[in-house]
Amino acid sequence: MPDTPTPPAAEPAPQPWLEELPPRQIVAELDRYIVGQAAAKKAIAIAIRNRWRRTQAPEAIRDEITPSNIILIGPTGVGKTEIARRLARLAGAPFLKIEASKFTEVGYVGRDVESIVRDLVDAGISLVRTEREDEVWPQAEQKALERLLELLLPPLERNAEGEPVEPEDAALAERRARSREKLRAQVLDGKLDDKEVEVDLSPPSYPDPDAWRPPEAPENPDFSIGEWIRDAMPRKGKRRLVKVPEARRLLEDEELRRLVDMDDVITEALDRVENHGIVFLDEIDKIAGERNPTGPDVSRQGVQRDLLPIVEGSTVQTRYGYVRTDHVLFVAAGAFHLAKPNDLIPELQGRFPIRVELESLTEADFVRILTEPENALTKQYQALVAAEKVELRFTEDAIAELARTAWQANDRMENIGARRLHTVMAALMEELLFELPDGRTGTITLDAAQVRSVLASVINDDDLRKYIL
Ligand SMILES: Nc1ncnc2c1ncn2[C@@H]1O[C@H](COP(=O)(O)OP(=O)(O)OP(=O)(O)O)[C@@H](O)[C@H]1O
Ligand SMILES: [Mg+2]
Repeated sequence: MPDTPTPPAAEPAPQPWLEELPPRQIVAELDRYIVGQAAAKKAIAIAIRNRWRRTQAPEAIRDEITPSNIILIGPTGVGKTEIARRLARLAGAPFLKIEASKFTEVGYVGRDVESIVRDLVDAGISLVRTEREDEVWPQAEQKALERLLELLLPPLERNAEGEPVEPEDAALAERRARSREKLRAQVLDGKLDDKEVEVDLSPPSYPDPDAWRPPEAPENPDFSIGEWIRDAMPRKGKRRLVKVPEARRLLEDEELRRLVDMDDVITEALDRVENHGIVFLDEIDKIAGERNPTGPDVSRQGVQRDLLPIVEGSTVQTRYGYVRTDHVLFVAAGAFHLAKPNDLIPELQGRFPIRVELESLTEADFVRILTEPENALTKQYQALVAAEKVELRFTEDAIAELARTAWQANDRMENIGARRLHTVMAALMEELLFELPDGRTGTITLDAAQVRSVLASVINDDDLRKYIL
């Protein structure tokens, strides 16, 4: 059984960074998921492209160029968070969403805004680690399967050192190879799913970063997290009796851990946080003191002052090393119903030079949101229903009816923006999702009349409407 870990495959091709695209194309990428809000998309696209532009600038000026931090201003449910979230996903960037108002909670005041950076680093580590694991997954899967087959075959003879030796007799070796292939087919067909097998798991080469907390202050400049982890890990493996599918999974996990170099993951993650990280500071309006005749709101201003160094750029110690926040992009968002961006302290305002207003969504936007984005709600429900071998279709006027219902509900109750579409769709789909599977296959087409009749009971009953929608 080959036991030495093969070195990871050659360097993967660099990520197609979103920031290397022209702003127009970045907007086009966002258009795949978010309807309207052209001004916000434009500002974001410029900010992202500016990161790449900065790296091209002469050394002397490069460090002087600060990120184009943005404040998104707009009512609830119009896409503020969605834009930022999509952006991070498209960019392969470490992303953290945090409510600015969190820092006014008891125990938070004046304390640990640095956790923003630590959490961002954690996000970066898990992002890069997942990428690396995806790259080596086919290898890991293959190696795990071979190890599993070896466990299922009768044990090999051992030499004086206790190592297994392949049989020298050609006929024996041939027979073993044939059984191996037969077992392979059986495992892949799931025929051995109930069989139990004993697996020897070597001690993990690194712990689960989510569960382990290495020292926050590695004093030694040569400190290597990878070595620290190796030294700190238990050296003894574990032997477990498990069913074949579980054994396969455990062996795959182990092979993944062997194939992914954590030192490398950490280096890459820190670089990605410093140069590509995005922090979404939600509810920034909640820490902006209203213009108040009795004087400034001290605790809110306190939070703003706490945030300032992180946004302005400082060096923060994390358990994986020091991280500079100078080029982290901050996108803040808020409804700003009462407070205005100008109510923020001047230093913070200066750090958020770009302000964009998001528009309220119209009924026509609702129609598009229901159908156009790649993850549009109607597509999600179609996928759920397809699992029951039924094709779900919405006529054009059914979609129009849904949009109208959502818009009316927003108008008559509270305006929660596009979030209303989720509740309206859920109400519409409930019966059908409960009835399926009911033996039918083929196509179910929902038209406006059906949408109206399903939703009528909800819409026409004031109390029910408030309750359900
Ligand atoms: N412009 C849009 N295009 C597509 N979907 C949208 C759009 N706006 C909102 N949505 C949908 O509505 C949901 C809520 O939107 P989002 O979380 O972006 O609201 P928000 O503007 O951040 O509101 P809040 O101020 O309450 O945080 C999203 O998950 C998305 O499904
Ligand atoms: Mg939001």
